Amino acid sequence: MNAAAGRVAVVAGGGRKGSIGREVAEHLVREGYRVVASDIGGTLKTHPDYEVAPMDDLDDLAASYDPAVLITRRCDVTDEAQVKALFDDAEAEYGVVDVAVNCAGLGIGLKPVVDLELRDWQVNIDVMATGAFLFARQAARTMVAAETPGRIITIASQAGKTGVRLLAAYSAAKFAVIGLTQAMAGELGRHGITVNTVCPGTIETPLLAVEGGVYQTFSKASGRSSDDFRNRLADYIPVKRLGTPADVAHAVAYLASAEASFVTGSALNVAGGEEMH
Ligand SMILES: NC(=O)c1ccc[n+]([C@@H]2O[C@H](COP(=O)([O-])OP(=O)(O)OC[C@H]3O[C@@H](n4cnc5c(N)ncnc54)[C@H](O)[C@@H]3O)[C@@H](O)[C@H]2O)c1
Repeated sequence: MNAAAGRVAVVAGGGRKGSIGREVAEHLVREGYRVVASDIGGTLKTHPDYEVAPMDDLDDLAASYDPAVLITRRCDVTDEAQVKALFDDAEAEYGVVDVAVNCAGLGIGLKPVVDLELRDWQVNIDVMATGAFLFARQAARTMVAAETPGRIITIASQAGKTGVRLLAAYSAAKFAVIGLTQAMAGELGRHGITVNTVCPGTIETPLLAVEGGVYQTFSKASGRSSDDFRNRLADYIPVKRLGTPADVAHAVAYLASAEASFVTGSALNVAGGEEMH
């Protein structure tokens, strides 16, 4: 029998087609987990034009699975009450939550610091730092109360290890995730709960291609076409390719497994060598 069979996982930011979170949710189902996949599903109040997962994506995900193995919920990770409701719902539907993975993220405000607006800074910190805190805190509360040796995993970034130009707000939010991870790992080890973060390099998802995203911003800054920028970047990466959501999902599945019980407080690069420390 699959070692993960019957284990329960809650995933945030798991709705958008082509995203890391969606692949994580589907990968965990394939491994035998019962998964509650959640996403904001709609629009951002501060940036209504930014593409987050539309409700259609969540609905389509729900329709693809037997509710015995995957259900979807709408949850904005910046909303404390919604995050609590997500974990309460998961326990009510499937029982004790073993694994919590937060993949919610944005690619907003890729600008020189001198041009960065407060609302761009704030949305990065709200979604990727405060959201990471609210999700991980609720996961910890749920797991400690259930006395289960759970796994809490957040997706940070290589930009959380080395600050990246034009990504000041994003980098700051991701540095916060690594600090949060280490502090929580120190506190929760005695409960048998591990807390880790995965630091992807450049992964081909919709986030790179959005208006004002990585491809558009960096190709413009380097005076190249988007394709030329992408190909040069792939050539610069030691393994000579960009990453895939599946590369990240495999790392998450390892950190979620029973075999990873001695791995905690880590920030695991999944970057093809683009980031190495
Ligand atoms: N793609 C990359 O190259 C890359 C590299 C390093 C880190 N990451 C990180 O990986 C994670 C996933 O990114 P992705 O590339 O799959 O992006 P994506 O845009 O494809 O997916 C992000 C998901 O987060 C959801 N989301 C946004 N705000 C939310 C909120 N407030 N509450 C709940 N869900 C919300 C979106 O709806 C979307 O489904 C992010 O944290 C991102 O910062 C991505």
